[in-house]
Amino acid sequence: MSSAAETIKERLGIVEVLESYMKIEKAGANYKARCPFHHEKTPSFFISPARNSYYCFGCGAKGDIFTFVQEFEKVDFVGALKILAERAGIELEQFKDERKGEYDRLRGVLELSTTFFQKQLEQNKKALEYLMGRGLTKKTIRDWRLGYAPNDWRKLYDFLKSKKVSEADMETVGLVKRSEKSDGTMYDRFRARVMFPIFDPSSRVVGYSGRIFGVPDSEGPKYLNSPDTPLFNKSEILYGYHKAKEGIRQWKYTILVEGQMDLLLCHQNGYTNAVATSGTSLTPGHLDKLKKISDNLMLVYDADKAGLKATLRAWTGALQLSMDVKVAGLPDGDDPASLLLKNKDEFKKALQNSKNIIEYYLDIVVREHKTPDKLKMAVQGEVLPYVVAVESAIFRSELISRISLKTGILIEDLREELHKLLKEKDKILEKFVGSSEKEYVQKDREADVQDEIALLKRDPIQRRIVGLLLWLHSLGDTVKSGKKASEYEKLILDEMGTFLEETDIEVYKKALQKGSEDMVYEAELLFQGSEKIQTEIDELLQSLEEKYLKDKLVRAMHDLHLSETKKDTKRAEELIQLCQDISNKLSLLNKKKKN
Ligand code: UTP
Ligand code: MN
Repeated sequence: MSSAAETIKERLGIVEVLESYMKIEKAGANYKARCPFHHEKTPSFFISPARNSYYCFGCGAKGDIFTFVQEFEKVDFVGALKILAERAGIELEQFKDERKGEYDRLRGVLELSTTFFQKQLEQNKKALEYLMGRGLTKKTIRDWRLGYAPNDWRKLYDFLKSKKVSEADMETVGLVKRSEKSDGTMYDRFRARVMFPIFDPSSRVVGYSGRIFGVPDSEGPKYLNSPDTPLFNKSEILYGYHKAKEGIRQWKYTILVEGQMDLLLCHQNGYTNAVATSGTSLTPGHLDKLKKISDNLMLVYDADKAGLKATLRAWTGALQLSMDVKVAGLPDGDDPASLLLKNKDEFKKALQNSKNIIEYYLDIVVREHKTPDKLKMAVQGEVLPYVVAVESAIFRSELISRISLKTGILIEDLREELHKLLKEKDKILEKFVGSSEKEYVQKDREADVQDEIALLKRDPIQRRIVGLLLWLHSLGDTVKSGKKASEYEKLILDEMGTFLEETDIEVYKKALQKGSEDMVYEAELLFQGSEKIQTEIDELLQSLEEKYLKDKLVRAMHDLHLSETKKDTKRAEELIQLCQDISNKLSLLNKKKKN
C-alpha cells in the first residue's frame, strides 16, 4: 500500500468514515449496522475500530475504508483514494511515485541499521545488563527493537557500505556525518549509545534516539536524536505512538511522559496508552495526532511550579481544542521509569489522584498564597487567564465552580472577572500561549464546534433540543403542522434567549451551523410522526429552563454558604434574595408544567 493510503487510514477512523454513509450503532467494542451491500432487516454488518475493518455476516462483504468507498460510491481504488484524501485533508501530490521510490530506499537503510544495532546489543553484555537493570524485560527490548551503537567511528558506516548503501543515503537518514576536515571522511553519528529506534505510525523505523552508554557522560549529550530527515520530523513524532494508538482507543485517554525509558516501562507495565514527547516541546502537530484518537490527556510529569508553568503554556493549545488535560504528580525526585521500577502501586495511585491541569496549578497557587486577598489576586492574575484558554463554555463553568470551592472566592465574582478577561481573549492568549498554538487553534475552530456539540449531547435535554433544532434546520421551508420548520427554529432560539446567557446560546447556534448526522436522525425518529410539534417544543424548553434555573440555584446557594462563613452579611442578603427569585421562577415553571 502506498504511504498516501496509509496516512489516510491513519487519519480517518473506519467508524468516522462509515458513519457518514450510514446509521451505525454501538455493539460492545464494535459497531453494527444494516449492511449497505445487501438487503436486510436486522443488522449483521460489523465494524471493528480495533482492526480498522468491517465484516458482514450476511453477505461476507469485508475490507477497510478504501474497499468500502469503492463499493459504496462505485469508484476504483484511485477514486476512493481521492475522495478519502480530500476528507483527510491530504494532498496526494506529495506522494508522487518518485518520492515513494526514494522513501522506500531510505527505509531500507534504516531497517538494515536497526538490525545492525540489535545484533550489536546482543553481543554487548554490559549494555544489555544496563537495560535489564533499569527494569526492561527481554521481550520489551525485542519488541521495541532496542540496540547498541558501538564505541567506534565507522562500524555502522562500514557495515552499510558492505550492503551497497550509498554515502548520500546514509547521510540523508542522519546515520553518518561528513567530517568538516578537508578529507571529508564519513563517520557514525551514534557512537557508544543505547539505541531507541523511533517508529512511524506504521511501525517502520524513521529515526533514533541514542542514550550515552559506556563512556563518560561528558563525551556528549545524554540523549542524541536523529536530525530531521525526509522520513523523520521531530515536531510530529511521538515516541511509542505506533503501539499506543490502540491502547489510547481502548483506554480512552493518552498518557504523556517525557522520556524513552519512562515510555517503555509504562508499556511494559500495561499502560499501553503512553506516548513520549522525547525531550522536544509539544507542538500543534503532536496535539493534532492525539486529538484524532482521544480528547483526554494525562501528563505524568515531574510537576513543580516552575515546570508546571512551562507545561501549562505548552498545553494551553490543548485546552483551546477542548481537550481535557490532567496532571498526575509523582513523588519528588521520581520519574515514571523510576517509580514503575520500585513501586507500581504508587504509580497507579498517582494516576488515580490526577487533577485537571488548571486545578493542579491552582492547588499550588493556593498553597503559596496564605491570605485571602493575596490568593484572590493570584487567582485573577495567574489562574483565570488559563481558564480563558478553555474553549468550551461548559468546561469553563465547571472549572469556575471548582476554583470557588477551593479558594472560597464567590462563583459570581469569578464569573464576572472571567467575563472581563474573555473580552480581551486574544490579548491574553498572546501573553499566556505561544503564537504557533494560536494560529493552529484558529485553523482548527471547526473541531472545537464538534466538541461543543459533543458536550451538549451529554445532557439528554440539551441533546434533544439540539437534535430538534438540527432537524428543523434541515427541513427549512417544509411546513409541519401549519408552520415552516424555519419559523419553529427561530421561535425556539428566541425563547431560549429569554433565559439563557449569550455565551450559552452561542453554542447552540454553532451546533446549528455544523450539524451532526446522528442527532438529526435521532430527532427525526422522535419528532417526525408527531402532530403536536409545538407542544413538544414547549415541553423541551420548559425542561431546559428548569435545568438552567436549578444550576443557577446551586451556584447561588454555594455562594451564599461561602458569604455566610466569611460573615459578609451584605452579600449574603443579596444572595438570599437571588435564591428566592430563582425558587419563585422554578415554582412558576412547575405550575405551568402541570397545566
Ligand atoms: P531526562 O534527562 O529526564 O532523562 O530527559 P531520562 O529520561 O530520565 O533518562 P534516563 O532515564 O536517565 O535514561 C528526558 C528526555 O529528554 C530527552 C530524551 O528523550 C529523554 O528521555 N533528552 C534528554 C534529549 O533529547 N537530549 C538530552 O540531552 C537529554
Ligand atoms: Mn529517568
